[in-house]
Amino acid sequence: MEISLRNQVAVVTGASSGIGSGIAKSLASAGAAVIVNHSSERSLDEAQAVLKEITDAGGNGITYQCDVSREDQVIKMFQDTVSQFGTVDILINNAGIQKDSKFTEMTLDQWNAVIGVNLTGQFLCAREAIKEFLRRGIDPSRSIACGKIIHISSVHEIIPWAGHANYAASKGAVRMLMQTLAQEYGADKIRVNSICPGAIQTPINKDAWSTQEALSSLLSLIPYNRIGQPQDIGNLAAFLASDLADYITGTSIFVDGAMTTFESFSTGG
Ligand code: BGC
Repeated sequence: MEISLRNQVAVVTGASSGIGSGIAKSLASAGAAVIVNHSSERSLDEAQAVLKEITDAGGNGITYQCDVSREDQVIKMFQDTVSQFGTVDILINNAGIQKDSKFTEMTLDQWNAVIGVNLTGQFLCAREAIKEFLRRGIDPSRSIACGKIIHISSVHEIIPWAGHANYAASKGAVRMLMQTLAQEYGADKIRVNSICPGAIQTPINKDAWSTQEALSSLLSLIPYNRIGQPQDIGNLAAFLASDLADYITGTSIFVDGAMTTFESFSTGG
């Protein structure tokens, strides 16, 4: 059994670091051409380093700067991708940010920034991707599905998170976005799923693993007793995007070392 994404084109948002970079490399190693999206000029070097790893390993792709919360930029990213690569087969809606704050001190800017990238960004990219999937139609030389969308959500689509109301609200909403799209476009053979990572060792949660003390406290929330790696998410993303997962749509898959079993209940309750 081989996971193959040969002849397919994948847009991976927020691919210059963290989970997105892991996914970009996994999809490329399964044969997809990858659009390594990054949000700003500042992340260009990182995106180029990800692309270099991909091409050094024999893969194919480009870097592409686009702020996913901006409609004009998202539309252009999809137009440019289609003119350069012919179409898009896979969207990994990964770009995400945190702007943490106690709720009563949360500013509207913090709220809007997180909802803008984590939710509106996923809406805009999914809309442009689905339009392109429908325009192309099913092409069995690429995939038996018309297109695949994978939303990168979080364990916080079901675990409430004090001090992170904007983030948890965005991820709860992503779950409904994903399920609604799977329902609305199922008959068109477009598959839509979410991956819900737990604690993955990336820049977004550096404070939670960069000291021994923080790491021990984090591990106390994870029955499997290790922090996740971007590759753990990349492995599933490649499988979910492939035809091996053709009957999987409309679901959230948690990759979290059993964080969602609520470890604190293991000794009481
Ligand atoms: C957050 C991380 C956090 C993890 C588990 C993720 O969605 O971005 O900061 O460590 O959830 O709580």
